[in-house]
Amino acid sequence: MRAPASTLTVLLAAALVRGARIPQRRATICNGHAELCDRPYGNVTFLGAHDSFAFSSDPLALAADQRVNLTQQLDLGVRMLQAQSHIFENELKFCHTSKILLFDGGTVQDYLTTVNGWLEENPNEVLTFLFTNPDGASLSGMWEPAFQASGITDLVYTPPQVPMAIGDWPTLGDLIDNGTRVIVFLDAGADTDRSVPFILPEFEMIWETPFDSTDPTFPCSVNRTAGPLSTADHMSLNNHFLDINVLNSGILISDPTDAPTTNGVPSILANAAGCAPLASNRNPNFILLDFANIGNGTQAVDQLNGVQ
Ligand SMILES: *[C@@H]1O[C@H](CO)[C@@H](O)[C@H](O)[C@H]1NC(C)=O
Ligand SMILES: *[C@@H]1O[C@H](CO)[C@@H](O)[C@H](O)[C@H]1NC(C)=O
Ligand SMILES: *[C@@H]1O[C@H](CO)[C@@H](O)[C@H](O)[C@H]1NC(C)=O
Ligand SMILES: *[C@@H]1O[C@H](CO)[C@@H](O)[C@H](O)[C@H]1NC(C)=O
Ligand SMILES: *[C@@H]1O[C@H](CO)[C@@H](O)[C@H](O)[C@H]1NC(C)=O
Repeated sequence: MRAPASTLTVLLAAALVRGARIPQRRATICNGHAELCDRPYGNVTFLGAHDSFAFSSDPLALAADQRVNLTQQLDLGVRMLQAQSHIFENELKFCHTSKILLFDGGTVQDYLTTVNGWLEENPNEVLTFLFTNPDGASLSGMWEPAFQASGITDLVYTPPQVPMAIGDWPTLGDLIDNGTRVIVFLDAGADTDRSVPFILPEFEMIWETPFDSTDPTFPCSVNRTAGPLSTADHMSLNNHFLDINVLNSGILISDPTDAPTTNGVPSILANAAGCAPLASNRNPNFILLDFANIGNGTQAVDQLNGVQ
C-alpha cells in the first residue's frame, strides 16, 4: 500500500511542477473569433471609431462624430478608439476644435477609466488606442499619469523594439495570454520622447490615408508616414469617414445622413481594395468610421478578416 501512495505523490509533484511551466490559460476566442487567436496583430483588420469621445445621441449636436457612448462602441465591435487631446487649465482632456464647434469629451483619465472597466469585463479583447497630441502634452508629465490613475497601465503592451515592422507583432492570443492586450499609439511626441515605453509613435508603424475626405470614393494615397521603416513594413489605417463642405465655405462637418452608405460593406471594401496596391496587397489594419453604430462596419471587418 505504501509504494503506490508514494508513487502517486511523485507523480502528483511532477504534474505540479510541469503545470507551473505551462501557461495557466490559453485564449480560445480572441476578439470574438477563434481564428484570430493565432493571427499576428499586424495581420488583423480592426474596426475603429474616429473621435470616439465625441458622442451624442442629439442629431443637432453638429460637433459629435459618434452617436453612441464608449461602452456601446466597444460592444458593437470597435477595437480602435481614436481621440484628439487638448490641454485645458493644466488638465489633459479629449476634445476637438477642428470643426465649427468645440466638443468637450471630459478628461483623458475619466475616458481611460471607462474603457478600463469595459476591458475588465471583456478579458479576451485586444484594443488599440490612437490618440493625437496637438498641444504637445508631456508623455511622462500628463499622459502617463492619466493612464496610471485609470488602472489601464496594467494591460498595456510594450514591444521589444520601436519601431515594430508589420510582421514583428505577436498574435492576438499571445497578447491576451500575457495580459498585454492594450496597444497605445500617439501621433506626435512619442518619436522623440521614449520615456514612457508603452506610448508608441504612430507614424513610424502606421501610415494613414487622407482624412476629412469629401469624396465618397475615398481616393487612396499614403498621406502620413514616418520613421526608418518602408511603407510596406508599416500597418495602414483608412480614414473612412466622409465630411461635407458646408455651403462650400471650407467648413467641414461630418454628415450622419451619408453614414449608412459610407459605413456599408461595399464602400468599406472598395476603399480597402483601392488602398491594396499601396499596402503590398494587404487589407488595411484599421478602418476609422464616424457614426460607427450606423451601417455595417463589423460585417465589413469580419469579411476582410475572413471570419464571418
Ligand atoms: C452608455 O450608454 C448605455 C445605454 O444608454 C448606458 O447603459 C451606459 O451606462 C452608458 N455607459 C457609460 C459609460 O456612460
Ligand atoms: C509573454 O511574456 C513572456 C514572459 O514575460 C515573454 O517571454 C514573451 O515574450 C511574451 N510574449 C509576448 C507576445 O509579449
Ligand atoms: C494629407 O491629407 C490632408 C487632408 O486629408 C491634406 O490637407 C494634406 O495636404 C495631405 N498631406 C499629404 C502629404 O498628402
Ligand atoms: C492577413 O494575411 C492574409 C493572407 O496573407 C492577407 O490576405 C490579408 O490581407 C492580411 N491582412 C492584413 C490586415 O494584413
Ligand atoms: C447595414 O446597415 C444599414 C444601415 O444602418 C442597416 O439598415 C442594415 O440593417 C445593416 N445590414 C445588416 C445586415 O446588418
